[in-house]
Amino acid sequence: MEKKNLDWGNLGFTYMPTDYRYVSHYKDGQWDDGELVTEEKIVLNECAGVFQYAQTVFEGLKAYTTEDGHIVCFRPNMNAERLQGSAEKLEIPTLPEGRFEEAVEKVVKANAAWVPPYGSGATLYIRPFIMGSGSVIGVAPSDEYQFRVFATPVGPYFKDGAKPITIRVSDEDRAAPHGTGNIKAGLNYAMSLHSTMDAHREGFDENMYLDSATRTYIEETGGANFIFITKDGKLVTPKSDSILPSITRRSLIQVAEEYLGLTVEHRKVKFSELEDFVEVGLCGTAAVISPVGKVVDHGREILIPTGMEEMGPVTRKLYETLTGIQMGKIEAPKGWIKTIV
Ligand code: PLP
Ligand code: COI
Repeated sequence: MEKKNLDWGNLGFTYMPTDYRYVSHYKDGQWDDGELVTEEKIVLNECAGVFQYAQTVFEGLKAYTTEDGHIVCFRPNMNAERLQGSAEKLEIPTLPEGRFEEAVEKVVKANAAWVPPYGSGATLYIRPFIMGSGSVIGVAPSDEYQFRVFATPVGPYFKDGAKPITIRVSDEDRAAPHGTGNIKAGLNYAMSLHSTMDAHREGFDENMYLDSATRTYIEETGGANFIFITKDGKLVTPKSDSILPSITRRSLIQVAEEYLGLTVEHRKVKFSELEDFVEVGLCGTAAVISPVGKVVDHGREILIPTGMEEMGPVTRKLYETLTGIQMGKIEAPKGWIKTIV
């Protein structure tokens, strides 16, 4: 199979249509068998649930080319499980058992020429989603849905790759207690667009959201969870019912404990503790691990000791071990790697 002729090393985190995508329809109370299609455009009624009441949930995972030339996905079963939970919360019918993995596998296989080569720094980002396609005018769940999966080759989420970023404490909240912050629904991202763009206009890469009830605990950013390293080398990750349960973060906890012998604390993290940490990073499928060099709280600068040039040493070890596992250089825990080709 010949790879597409792309400048793999210089891809950004942008959408590029690939050759095939998967679609399955839900109608009359059931999902059809689903198929690969080539058409990327979707024709829907103007009154579809997704347009009127944002009834849509999604996932994000990646396919990698390993050192020995296979194409693999990282823990797709975890994304499948999270999508079911997101769907339930928005009254979207869940998928038949195994359907998510089957669709991801079909899309990756069919787009193998678009999977960036090993060592290029790029990966194939896979975006599964389910949206209400039937018309609704009163506030109600749709009676028809589409489950779709498309894929697009991507480079780093932040434009300078692994360079530390600067974030600010947001005045707007991302999620309410007992709300939808812990599911992956488009609505969580729609309402973060204004604060994200405002952060960009003010020269920041991202927002740090605090818990909306007390504004004293660190939650997450618009698209990633946080990791912190203490002076004595512990990994600390915020625990909250209103943040997305990041698969990368849950994987890093295991990597830290089992591969690097670190002590891990998954607990509530006070904003006032930030100054005590020696390394700070964002973690997620898109962000991988992106180091944070500076946090600005209403003009007060909190400089992370690792500075604006490099990832800190513990963050680097975590990054190298995680990506080593994803790219087949380091043996993965059982069940983490699904070989597609
Ligand atoms: N938090 C938010 C709000 C996200 O959108 C994402 C991305 O999926 C994450 C965290 C990281 O989750 P994961 O590691 O499963 O990609
Ligand atoms: C992901 O990491 O997969 C996400 O969905 C985050 C998004 C901000 C791109």
